[in-house]
Amino acid sequence: MASKILSPASTLSRPVRASLQCLRRQPIYPPTPVQHQPQRRSISAYGYEQAKALTFTDYGDPPSVLSLHSHSISPAHGNLMTLRFLASPINPADINQIQGVYPSKPRFTTSLSTASPIAVAGNEGVAEIIALGDKVKSEGFKRGDWVVMNGPGFGTWRTHASATTADVVKLEDSAREGITPIQAGTISINPCTAYRMLKDFVDLKEGDWFIQNGANSGVGRAAIQLGKQWGLKSINVIRARDDKAKEEQLKQDLLSIGADVVITDTELQSQGIRDQAKEWTSGGRSPILLALNCVNGKAATAMAKLLSSDAHFVTYGAMSKQPLTIPASMLIFKDVHFHGFWVSKWAEKHPEAKKSTVEDVLGLIKKGKFRDTPVEEIAWEWETKGEDLIGKVKDTLEGYREGKGVFVFGKT
Ligand SMILES: NC(=O)c1ccc[n+]([C@@H]2O[C@H](COP(=O)([O-])OP(=O)(O)OC[C@H]3O[C@@H](n4cnc5c(N)ncnc54)[C@H](OP(=O)(O)O)[C@@H]3O)[C@@H](O)[C@H]2O)c1
Repeated sequence: MASKILSPASTLSRPVRASLQCLRRQPIYPPTPVQHQPQRRSISAYGYEQAKALTFTDYGDPPSVLSLHSHSISPAHGNLMTLRFLASPINPADINQIQGVYPSKPRFTTSLSTASPIAVAGNEGVAEIIALGDKVKSEGFKRGDWVVMNGPGFGTWRTHASATTADVVKLEDSAREGITPIQAGTISINPCTAYRMLKDFVDLKEGDWFIQNGANSGVGRAAIQLGKQWGLKSINVIRARDDKAKEEQLKQDLLSIGADVVITDTELQSQGIRDQAKEWTSGGRSPILLALNCVNGKAATAMAKLLSSDAHFVTYGAMSKQPLTIPASMLIFKDVHFHGFWVSKWAEKHPEAKKSTVEDVLGLIKKGKFRDTPVEEIAWEWETKGEDLIGKVKDTLEGYREGKGVFVFGKT
């Protein structure tokens, strides 16, 4: 393995019955300060780039099948560009993909100098272009541009990659200004998913209500904040915690970003919840028209029971690994419409809308109207050991986490 030679630094970072313990919203916090961290990138001799990637050869339990693989990338030419990753999150879908239970499969390849095909884990992230071929230049790309992945399966848990323009979407300089790598690296999946689900299934007007579970997830937090921006009201369901102080803290956190009501899944399934929901929605005169479900199981069925006639119920995840059970009466007498949503498929059909959705959210971030989802930064330096990185991936398999794991690349 050739040693790394560092180049000069580049600039890159309501009333509520006491029994239910529900809470009302508070004002939104002031803008999150945006910080740029100077980072250094490394280029090795003769234009070859040394790279490391978290890869797997077979599907399975992530800690068992992942390993850190080193390889080199030849100089960028023609339609190729060399990317240096800045930030890549660990999303539930990434874990499902490694387990082999995600519909979108990664690219297994021998192009990373291995005898047998391997795949690089990770689907989302932001990278900087550090070298590019003439054809890439002619398509309006330049060194220093930031790009996000065009779709799933590229492999983002890596320090560097070789890519074509078809693999990426460029973040325009004006859109990217004042945005941190973590913000850019986590914007293309979760906020987009929340945005489209609030917009594309029912025409919600100011003052209309929606209800969601998984409300403290990246998608859930995005839905709360976007809904607030658009004058919508939200009932947000979180999982109950054994530690009631932490549960209360989490409720307050979601109220502070714009949630109108926050309840636990236990409270959702308690007696009297329908009367309670009527109180929140002006005696039931403001219907609950949309439900967003990423959990399933009994708590999801309880959520559907609060919907008005003709409402829409969108399932986009399966965190509890339980089936979704729908009472026939909900279909026959209430005509609730059940849908599924997958942002990858949507983006494939609507590439331009995907770009404008991302830009809309970037705009809100800049105006201080969209707070980052809490993250646990996982520093990935050139010297970071594979076992440490894989240990962090293993941690994300446990629930009740306080932040999404994000690889933040330093001196790579
Ligand atoms: N269909 C799509 O296009 C699309 C796009 C993006 C995301 N998703 C899906 O949306 C969901 C959230 O993704 P994310 O990246 O926003 O998540 P995230 O920020 O990583 O948060 C994970 C969420 O899942 C909850 N959770 C974990 N284990 C659970 C369990 N056993 N039962 C119930 N809830 C559980 C967590 O609640 P606790 O804090 O209580 O653990 C937390 O709210 C995932 O299912 C993901 O696959 C789908």
